[in-house]
Amino acid sequence: MIVSRLILKNWRNFQSVDVVLQDRVFLVGPNASGKSNLLDAFRFLRDIAKDGGGLQKAVADRGRLPKIRCLSARRSSNVEIEIHLSESSQEPPRWKYAIGITQEKGGKRRPILVYEKVWSAENLILNRPDEQDNQDAQRLTQTHLEQINSNMHFREIAVFLTSIQYMHLVPQLLRFPDSFPGQEIPGDPFGKRFLENLARTNNKTRSSRLNKIESALHDVVPQLKELSFIKDGNGAPHLEAVYEHWRPKAGKQREDQFSDGTLRLIALLWSLQDGRSLLLLEEPELSLNAGIVSKLAPIISRLQRQTKRQVILSTHSPDLLSDKGIGGEEVLILIPGPEGTEVAVASTKQEILELLEGGLSIADAVLPTTNPQTALSSWGI
Ligand SMILES: Nc1ncnc2c1ncn2[C@@H]1O[C@H](COP(=O)(O)OP(=O)(O)OP(=O)(O)O)[C@@H](O)[C@H]1O
Ligand SMILES: [Mg+2]
Repeated sequence: MIVSRLILKNWRNFQSVDVVLQDRVFLVGPNASGKSNLLDAFRFLRDIAKDGGGLQKAVADRGRLPKIRCLSARRSSNVEIEIHLSESSQEPPRWKYAIGITQEKGGKRRPILVYEKVWSAENLILNRPDEQDNQDAQRLTQTHLEQINSNMHFREIAVFLTSIQYMHLVPQLLRFPDSFPGQEIPGDPFGKRFLENLARTNNKTRSSRLNKIESALHDVVPQLKELSFIKDGNGAPHLEAVYEHWRPKAGKQREDQFSDGTLRLIALLWSLQDGRSLLLLEEPELSLNAGIVSKLAPIISRLQRQTKRQVILSTHSPDLLSDKGIGGEEVLILIPGPEGTEVAVASTKQEILELLEGGLSIADAVLPTTNPQTALSSWGI
């Protein structure tokens, strides 16, 4: 399943967003235009749905509701999120889930639901507040999504959302997890527990994934051969590869000796194969050589054909966006303005469509419009 449409109202720096999403989505925009904030809308839903999560915790983890609510919205406005889930971008929604949230007027000023709605196909199967909510307002502090007893008729949505994965790998955390004690971050976005995750995966699946990674790495890190998983004398998991050097005998290296780019790429290629729900990637181009970055979009497509995993990524990289296989319908442009950031699918902008039809890549057709100097004038703002 994929998220085929996203509708936001007053979410962070967006007053209003309504976009159709494809299997691959590229978020493009200047610094502080809201790319990470947009990804955070999906993480927020995951945090509501997951075990030990819930509406109260998802909001508390982000501060309070006024921090989430768009600063340019009126103070009493609701924060609203709606998603449509479909088998593919060509198919009609199988599910729709929508919530509106506000803050209690007095007391603890907890976040409370203004509404929670679920549609199975086009049939409205949950419509809160219902009679019970009207009798007991406390109930509106929790979504039905987060409650096993209440979400049984739409459990599939909860399972999908719970499995959303966000990745922003920090190589040093992966290499030296024990040097960074402190609270574990749920979902391990920075890769601290990446090797443990590898260890938990069954042997057959792990070998098959590592083989695919090895062959994808073949072109980009040619000296790296035979990528494998091992456990050391203490039972600690490691990645190991044979490195061909100028010396006649090839040497073995472990992940603490891999380059930052190699590690990021391995983790990225692993994540693409690890799960079927939405994968959110922050700037996958970081620490990678331009030649590799220019191949990321086709590599993602190739692995997606096998896993059907939707990928939404933020990027600043002209190299990544230079791939002519990226269509205008796959690109969301974030255009900051005085009333918040506007989000547009690139192919819906006539001037961009013409450039793309004229043979320009997304990098050439779209990136100049996100350049802070030219963005405002080129959008007539
Ligand atoms: N509730 C809110 N209302 C309005 N703006 C907000 C709100 N919360 C955060 N912001 C603004 O959002 C901006 C940060 O957005 P975000 O981190 O998503 O940008 P980005 O596009 O990911 O940038 P970068 O490319 O630098 O990573 C900041 O300028 C911040 O002030
Ligand atoms: Mg960001």
